[in-house]
Amino acid sequence: MIDVGVSDIAIYIPQFYLPHDELAEARGIPPEKFREGLGNHKMAILPNWEDSVTMAANAAAQLLEKTGTNPQEIHQLVVSTESGVDHSKPVASFVQGLLKIGSRCRIYEIKHACYGGTAGIVTSIDWIARNYGNSKKALVIMTDVARYGFGSPGEPTQGAGAVALLVEKNPRLLSVDTRTNGIFSKDVFDFWRPTGHRVPIVDGKYSVACYLEAMEEAVSHFRSNVGIPRGRLLEHLDYILYHMPFTGMARKAHRHFVDTEHVDLGAEARQDLYTETFRAKVEPGLLGAREVGNIYTGSVYMGLASLLETEQDRVEGKRVGVFSYGSGCGAEFFLCQMKTGLSEIIQGMRFQEQLDRRKAVTFEQYVQWYSRSGAETLYHPAEVEAHKDPFTQFTFIGFKDHKRQYV
Ligand code: CAA
Repeated sequence: MIDVGVSDIAIYIPQFYLPHDELAEARGIPPEKFREGLGNHKMAILPNWEDSVTMAANAAAQLLEKTGTNPQEIHQLVVSTESGVDHSKPVASFVQGLLKIGSRCRIYEIKHACYGGTAGIVTSIDWIARNYGNSKKALVIMTDVARYGFGSPGEPTQGAGAVALLVEKNPRLLSVDTRTNGIFSKDVFDFWRPTGHRVPIVDGKYSVACYLEAMEEAVSHFRSNVGIPRGRLLEHLDYILYHMPFTGMARKAHRHFVDTEHVDLGAEARQDLYTETFRAKVEPGLLGAREVGNIYTGSVYMGLASLLETEQDRVEGKRVGVFSYGSGCGAEFFLCQMKTGLSEIIQGMRFQEQLDRRKAVTFEQYVQWYSRSGAETLYHPAEVEAHKDPFTQFTFIGFKDHKRQYV
């Protein structure tokens, strides 16, 4: 049987964060609303010398290093982002240059809100399955800075980060049989960013409703593809990772999952089932969303990194359901079959170490960095030097002849 999936994972988290308590104080909002209502504690803040390109390259450089992969071995490089830096030139080309990936490589950028990374992974898996005899490798990167309007309801759900995955045959981390994936898409305006807008326009409550409808439909499609009757899917899943703009969204999603999949149970039994399965199957994937915020395309894959970090070897051999959602909207529910012998892969992510190394910024610093427009000079060597960071290998230094420059 053809076995294709993800061999390894790397994550890049910026070195700065804003505590939600500080944001709440500045906005005159009770801190419990962010901590308990939305369920987020810190949001990653991207300094002016980083962007979607540097985060992608920083994650992918770690991945190549930890797997000992020669950049020339990558035959497909897909970067998924909704924080692109150019209408034409893909982020993937910048990453190719920075990582010295060879020319016999198909390179492109995918955009479909937060769902784009899943499209990149699924198409890479299918391409490798088609080339099974040739040992192709694909590098799939999700990179985003999630920004909302100052003072808007979305502001506390901001974040930034990148996740890189190595997709190949006989994978070491997890397998995916894409033939059973459950799919749902629909033309809606729940969250969008017209060309030229710096921050999205959001119909927040409607976006939650669209997410839940897409999840119910994608789960139902998956169930019928694998031939599991309604009410029996939960017992086949050891963990579930939901796309997570804030951890409260995973709560809403899981409640909806239990309510719609277990319609035969009474309200009390459903509540018990929800409480027990949320703690055991969903909670272990929440670390990143709580500590970093939304990273759009990478969010559900930061959930995978969180699950690995939290559960360590308990995840070996387990079945993980993944729900990926992108506004607009597109969604997919699929199953990951985890491999065994994962400790090196998990230690090599250095996820907790990245979270622990971070420095809090003040509310004023956050406003200053997020107010500057892209046209201003962003690079201050002394500032960058003062914040040297072992995980940040690449830096954006501004424009020359309208060309973005990186070191
Ligand atoms: N103490 C504890 N909890 C409190 C509280 C307090 N003092 N005050 C309010 N809360 C709770 C509320 O009860 C509510 O909880 P429930 O949802 O469980 O009822 C929660 O805090 C949020 O409060 P509001 O209902 O007042 O909602 P809001 O105005 O803060 O908006 C939001 C919430 C719509 C999600 C907003 O953050 C938003 O627009 N976010 C961006 C869009 C988004 O993330 N949508 C998710 C689906 S779309 C998607 O997933 C794609 C993507 O990545 C963007």
